[in-house]
Amino acid sequence: MPLIKIQNLVKDYRLPRKFIFKKAPVFRALHGINLSIEKGESYGIVGESGCGKSTLARIVMALDNPTSGTVYYNGNDLFSISRKKLRGLRRHFQMVFQDPYSSLNPRKKVLSIVSEPLDMLEKSISFSERKDRVGLMLSEVGLNRNDLEKYPHEFSGGQRQRIAIARALITKPSLIVADESVSALDVSVQAQVLNLMMDLQDKFNLAFMFISHDLSVVEFVTQRLAVIYLGRIVEQGTTKEIFEKPFHPYTQLLLSAVPSIDPEKKNQACHGESSKYSLGHNSCPFVDRCNLATEICEQQAPELLEKAGHFVSCHHVTFD
Ligand SMILES: Nc1ncnc2c1ncn2[C@@H]1O[C@H](COP(=O)(O)OP(=O)(O)OP(=O)(O)O)[C@@H](O)[C@H]1O
Ligand SMILES: [Mg+2]
Repeated sequence: MPLIKIQNLVKDYRLPRKFIFKKAPVFRALHGINLSIEKGESYGIVGESGCGKSTLARIVMALDNPTSGTVYYNGNDLFSISRKKLRGLRRHFQMVFQDPYSSLNPRKKVLSIVSEPLDMLEKSISFSERKDRVGLMLSEVGLNRNDLEKYPHEFSGGQRQRIAIARALITKPSLIVADESVSALDVSVQAQVLNLMMDLQDKFNLAFMFISHDLSVVEFVTQRLAVIYLGRIVEQGTTKEIFEKPFHPYTQLLLSAVPSIDPEKKNQACHGESSKYSLGHNSCPFVDRCNLATEICEQQAPELLEKAGHFVSCHHVTFD
């Protein structure tokens, strides 16, 4: 059984109504996402800004409800189990956010920041045990016990992200959802934090849902990945295969967007920026940016086709 199974996940956001007697417009942020994450696996989610990555993360963390579809954690449907059971399950999935400056309460000491998830789950735990566990976790993330009594402003960005990781790990979770967790850091610090995450993944058999717009990061830390475009998975497979042979024109665009000064290297299959498709539009969502587009792309959205675990949704892709 996969650790996380996401099935036909749809999320609509109701937008502010434009006219008082008209229905509020709806924006579909996720259009039927299917994917699963195995125990101990690091799974990447990539796509440009606004494609729905954080929306997906919030639903997987059960911080928001889907419009339809569901998420199973170890076989438990997160949106139909009792509140009590969900509360019990929450210790198994934790999140590390993007901004290490705003995600830590500046008025609290490291001890209470890191132990916060523990305080809610294990109310009976003694002060000294709590301190011991937090101290131990700080050493796991490369900080030390003396840091317990410090405030977040006494740390660098990379160190703050280590604190956030310690907080996520304190409940011994089996899944960490990392939403752009290293994007705000300097490149050299990024590498250290990523190395730490990978070490911890091995040590605690953690699964990661690793969200990033930075493909070099995703290539480094994930085993499989899904490429999302306007709320749909357009390509999915092992990271190695996708990097070696990307099929979808959008994936090719993302891979070619890694900076290069050679104009010849620019990808020729697509152009432009993403536009928002309204609900009910039936064409391929990528049609207006794709140089391969033909009539069928205008008329019908392609299905996600599979060959040996590699999925692609494009009318013009044939696996060879
Ligand atoms: N509460 C909301 N109400 C209305 N629309 C929303 C809401 N939250 C997100 N959206 C829209 O849903 C889409 C997906 O947003 P989301 O934050 O998931 O994108 P993202 O992929 O995480 O982007 P980024 O890389 O910039 O973080 C966006 O177009 C956004 O405008
Ligand atoms: Mg986001």
